Amino acid sequence: MVKPSIIAIDGPAASGKSTLGERLAQRIGYLYFDTGILYRAVTLAALQKFGRVDQEEEVSILSEVVNIDVRPPSLADGRNADVCIDGVDVTWDIRTPEVDANVSQISAYPRVRRAMTLQQRRIGQRGGVVMVGRDIGTVVFPEAGLKIYLIATVEERARRRFHEITARGDTADFKRILAALRKRDAYDSGRKLAPLKPAEDAIILDSEGLSIDQVVERALELVEKA
Ligand code: CDP
Repeated sequence: MVKPSIIAIDGPAASGKSTLGERLAQRIGYLYFDTGILYRAVTLAALQKFGRVDQEEEVSILSEVVNIDVRPPSLADGRNADVCIDGVDVTWDIRTPEVDANVSQISAYPRVRRAMTLQQRRIGQRGGVVMVGRDIGTVVFPEAGLKIYLIATVEERARRRFHEITARGDTADFKRILAALRKRDAYDSGRKLAPLKPAEDAIILDSEGLSIDQVVERALELVEKA
């Protein structure tokens, strides 16, 4: 079987892209790369440096110089990669509600997107990669051999995020999660540059009511057919 060299998985927040991407990559021996990590890391770096994210010029410059490193996991604490900013481990710090609440604003800045897109192309250009994000099939790798657009209702996605947080031992408020997801979806879909939307040749995969194993099997069928 000749597999597509680049597999793009896009979709809204908490649609299960990361879990699918990771398992699919493992099954076919590909590298898995979650591009949300980069936008989250820039957001955290900006919050640490400026305490806010609304200064577009400063944040843009920061995104061009900040040193974000994504490496295989060094700890078995549920992480699927080590994420470091300038050598400091920030793997869990990029997953806080504060980063969640600010990441979409930063992701709309054109220079930030340009800097992140360049990094993503560098990582993916050798092929053998499952890349996950919002604009992989539309902007980063429009030539990807397989594009999956993963969807589920916002309520289902909020339930998944709720379980993800409580499984880590943290407390979570379902209504707040739901509201935050709705807000981020609106922001991501409404931005001018690289908005969240399926590529014209993307295959829509609706994960509603499917187990993660069923979603992975469905994706494997798509890899075979691609
Ligand atoms: O895991 P979750 O679906 O909540 O989000 P994520 O994939 O970690 O992405 C966090 C945010 O980064 C998104 O809400 C987008 O604003 C932005 N993002 C983007 O603009 N383009 C990408 N390729 C990936 C993420």
